[in-house]
Amino acid sequence: MPNVARWPWQTGRTRAGGSHVASVVVSVTVRAPAKVNLHLGVGPPRGDGFHELATVFQAVSLYDEVTVEAADEFSIEIDGEADGVPLDASNLAARAVFALAEAVGLPPNVKVSIRKAIPVAGGMAGGSADAAATLVACDALWQTDLGTDALHDLAAALGSDVPFCLHGGTALATGRGERLTRVLAKGVYHWVFAVAETGLSTALVFAELDRIRGSSLVLEPQVPPDLMTALRAGEPRRLASLLYNDLQAATLHLRPALRRTIEAGRDGHALGTVICGSGPTIAMLVAGSAEAVELVSALSGSGSCRTVYRAHGPVAGARVVS
Ligand code: C5P
Repeated sequence: MPNVARWPWQTGRTRAGGSHVASVVVSVTVRAPAKVNLHLGVGPPRGDGFHELATVFQAVSLYDEVTVEAADEFSIEIDGEADGVPLDASNLAARAVFALAEAVGLPPNVKVSIRKAIPVAGGMAGGSADAAATLVACDALWQTDLGTDALHDLAAALGSDVPFCLHGGTALATGRGERLTRVLAKGVYHWVFAVAETGLSTALVFAELDRIRGSSLVLEPQVPPDLMTALRAGEPRRLASLLYNDLQAATLHLRPALRRTIEAGRDGHALGTVICGSGPTIAMLVAGSAEAVELVSALSGSGSCRTVYRAHGPVAGARVVS
């Protein structure tokens, strides 16, 4: 049974027949991908509570699917890997509906149905993917003429990873993760993701990193040029040796048992392993699809994680599928 929430929504501003809206379609389904950070450099904390990042995202073929349907009032339901996803106004997909409705002057009267496959609080941008998919779905449902830049700005206001989930591919991100530059990446990268029993709060992991760093000098983060060269050349082995995450020490401190998962990945011949974002999911890069199947089977029998997924990247960002 899906989790369902419904509540009346008061809009402050409703524009009748505004120039942004041409006509109304009935239902739109969009899927949006998970992400892995190939390199995640974290700078010192900023005045606004965020940290300056230098990261390379890759979108991978593990998708959440969001359907929005015209309705008399706002409601949201979630199916699949949904434990721990809030069903109130703090839900990122709900916030995406309200933000876009506000921007185009429409009441947020849609039924949002989310089919989750991306682990919740797993460091793979599951909530951000739902927000990106919802923005694209409502944009299509309401046939707005907002354009890519305005959608990007709404996405950035919702969360640091939401703009990347809109765009997909492989991208260098700076700022708090919302400033994107496309990266040239040749070939297909095969991944195995080991998902932990329970999720981790991103804010908690960043706070733990600050605690570990204490008063030591933290330099502005940078992505090593070798990583870009490996991606341009399409060399998974070289890329594997360059996978890096500044949050890894903090995540491992909060979840020491993840070391066993990383060991199991190495024993299963992963070319390289890295914690996905703030974790606790562990990303393992492998040489090809046959190696991925073998690693999935080894990890499944290792008892070191809750579940295991196979995916490839890069893939496109949030796209309408029907
Ligand atoms: O932007 P998002 O809502 O995904 O961020 C969640 C939390 O992660 C933030 O509230 C902040 O504590 C932390 N964060 C950060 N620096 C970033 C991105 C996220 O400190 N660049």
